[in-house]
Amino acid sequence: MNQAAPAPKENMGNPVPRIDARLKVTGQAGYPADLATANVAYGVLATSTIARGSISALRLERARAVPGVLDIVSVGDIDEVDKPKFGNAGASSIGPLHDKTIFHDGQIIALVVAETFEAAAEAAMLIRADYAQETPSASFDSQGTGIEPAAGKSPMYKEDLKAGDFDAAYAAAAVKIDQKYSTPTQHHNPIELFSTTAWWQGDQLTVHEPSQNVTGWKTELARQLKIDPANVRIVSPYVGGAFGSKGPMTARTAIVAVAARRVGRPVRCVVSRMQAYDTQTYRAETRHRIRIGANRDGRITAFGHEGWEVTSRPDAYVVAGTSATSRMYNYGSVLTHVSLVHADRNTPGYMRSPPETPYVYALENAMDEMAVELGMDPVEFRRINEPEKEPIGGKPFSSRSLIKCYDQAAEAFGWSKREAAVGSMRDGDWLVGMGCATAVYPTAAAPCAARVRLTDDGHVRVQSGSHEIGTGVRTVAGQMAAERLGVDIDKVSVEMGDSTLPPAPVSGGSISTASVCSAVLKACDAIREKLFAAAVGEGGPLAGSGNAKLEMEKEAVVADSGKSARLSDVFKAMQIGALEEYAEFAPKGSSPEALKKLYAGQAEFHGGDQDEDSVKYAFGAEFVEVRINSYTREIRVPRIVGAFAAGRIMNTRTARSQLMGGMIWGIGQALHEATEIDQRHARYVNRDLQDYLVPVNADIKQLEVILVPEVDHAVNPAGVKGLGELGNVGTAAAVASAVYHATGRRIRDLPIRIEDLIV
Ligand code: MOS
Repeated sequence: MNQAAPAPKENMGNPVPRIDARLKVTGQAGYPADLATANVAYGVLATSTIARGSISALRLERARAVPGVLDIVSVGDIDEVDKPKFGNAGASSIGPLHDKTIFHDGQIIALVVAETFEAAAEAAMLIRADYAQETPSASFDSQGTGIEPAAGKSPMYKEDLKAGDFDAAYAAAAVKIDQKYSTPTQHHNPIELFSTTAWWQGDQLTVHEPSQNVTGWKTELARQLKIDPANVRIVSPYVGGAFGSKGPMTARTAIVAVAARRVGRPVRCVVSRMQAYDTQTYRAETRHRIRIGANRDGRITAFGHEGWEVTSRPDAYVVAGTSATSRMYNYGSVLTHVSLVHADRNTPGYMRSPPETPYVYALENAMDEMAVELGMDPVEFRRINEPEKEPIGGKPFSSRSLIKCYDQAAEAFGWSKREAAVGSMRDGDWLVGMGCATAVYPTAAAPCAARVRLTDDGHVRVQSGSHEIGTGVRTVAGQMAAERLGVDIDKVSVEMGDSTLPPAPVSGGSISTASVCSAVLKACDAIREKLFAAAVGEGGPLAGSGNAKLEMEKEAVVADSGKSARLSDVFKAMQIGALEEYAEFAPKGSSPEALKKLYAGQAEFHGGDQDEDSVKYAFGAEFVEVRINSYTREIRVPRIVGAFAAGRIMNTRTARSQLMGGMIWGIGQALHEATEIDQRHARYVNRDLQDYLVPVNADIKQLEVILVPEVDHAVNPAGVKGLGELGNVGTAAAVASAVYHATGRRIRDLPIRIEDLIV
């Protein structure tokens, strides 16, 4: 039934509904903290009330006296455990219970464990700390921050990128801009709260926690606890929103595991939304200076992008989106530089298209400004600067359908009806503006393993330790198996989210569909090979058809001659009831250690701008209409049209959902999202969904997604580019450009609020 709709276009997968849709809408898809755990005790965190200094005394007596309190784990109690590490699977090197130093506001100072949640919460509130307090540095303009060049400080960012002689080209340019842009602190705010449930059976530790990286966490948690990774199991069958926040493991996980060992029973700690602002990661605020120089004909001759990012004192977290912005157009010359600003803050982390979201926002806003300077249509300006090869390494793109995306989105949007003059479009009390911007996201894949089992009645089971974080990866992995093995998707089950399954990489960087589908494809092909050999072999149902081209369709092996053999007959000839294959996929160019690293939970990414042969990116173009009330300056976004090309689309329904979700978060960035910081105390202020604004249904009107067909076999065997984060890039710049078109106000600091537009 599910496969009734035919594939609409070449390379466009069937829009089958999610195979877990029914479970999700009936509440049966349990998040980790929902899973029943017998005899569970409740943990509640106590956190610091200062952002910088140290604890001189911790007073726990009143907390211990609360009836039902079983234990309090605090500074000095977990010395047997190693400190967390920053990088790979770890969010931060700050080990909050390892020493008395306070690195940021809201740092964990204790975990109270009690018979009930209420008792634990009451006790946590009664914990008092005496501090030796120092004046914290909150952000960019604070006294006492540590600023340093980012290059070489983190494996995430090796060097500043350059091409040609920027200074000379910029000085000589006939038309130029030099502007500054900024993006604010943002928090992921997944609806599912962060939680850890841990228990021990002998030396076996089981942890239920929403995760984008169960294999990485298993390894990192075992390292911290100094136990064998084989004794650690991380379970995360469903995740209620992640956006990067559940990628790196935070300090809490080991603390809860220690508490569970001490009290000798399962401990569950569900972190309040307020506490999540400091105990999890976030998107740090960024600043940008962009210089563009061009000839009068619109050809860019010089592009300069300098970025500044906030991070914690100890950790060099850096996103450095100049890797994408410096390769976007045919610039002639390029100069980039990225700086880190260390402040008294928790360590930031990946969030919704981490590098591109802030950096491409700045670039695309600047591109629109430059088009205005040139008196040129912004689409035409991009067309003129479309590159043959990317400017940094001189490499070709494996495929690049950006102009096709612009053409199709412009057509669907009705861009030709736009009147170019600022403030020229009006509808009653509403000022109308139209803008556009490029979306881009690197295409990568990482080593991944999968196990596929096919039984003689046509049932398929797919297993891979990837993560269903809402993307639909469980469904598309199932589709890949259904297609290769010629069975209906209804007969496929897919198991994910458990570190006991074949290892998969972190579900981040939009790599999951490409990585998991490539591994599933490989396992399925191994099954096919065996079935085909048996079918045409001696005594097989297609014996004598040795030279035929074989395919699997409708639970049968089909030869190009038209002859076919039912699956059950092939299995009968093999005298077995099922075939099971385990496959390991490693992307082209993987190091000899890549697979070993996969089992140790370290994903070796390949693709993007890292490959020798070509640069691999997915592209899109987004067109936005805004309406601004001429009296109140209320800003509405009645419609967005986005066209995207991302190689093979496994499932047009889940792909559309991902891209729509991305554009909705793009509206969030443009108009809503910002974490406000009390500069005196380096403290997040609006730490809940009442005050941290996200787009809601009333903010979203028409969203149109166009999937532009694209075939790219260079990216990976599955031909999949991945698009989980693509739609989110470009929206904010398109909104900013539309706001400029409507009002003549160029807003360079996100989010764009009513107060920015009041005369
Ligand atoms: Mo995503 S922010 O790469 O988990």
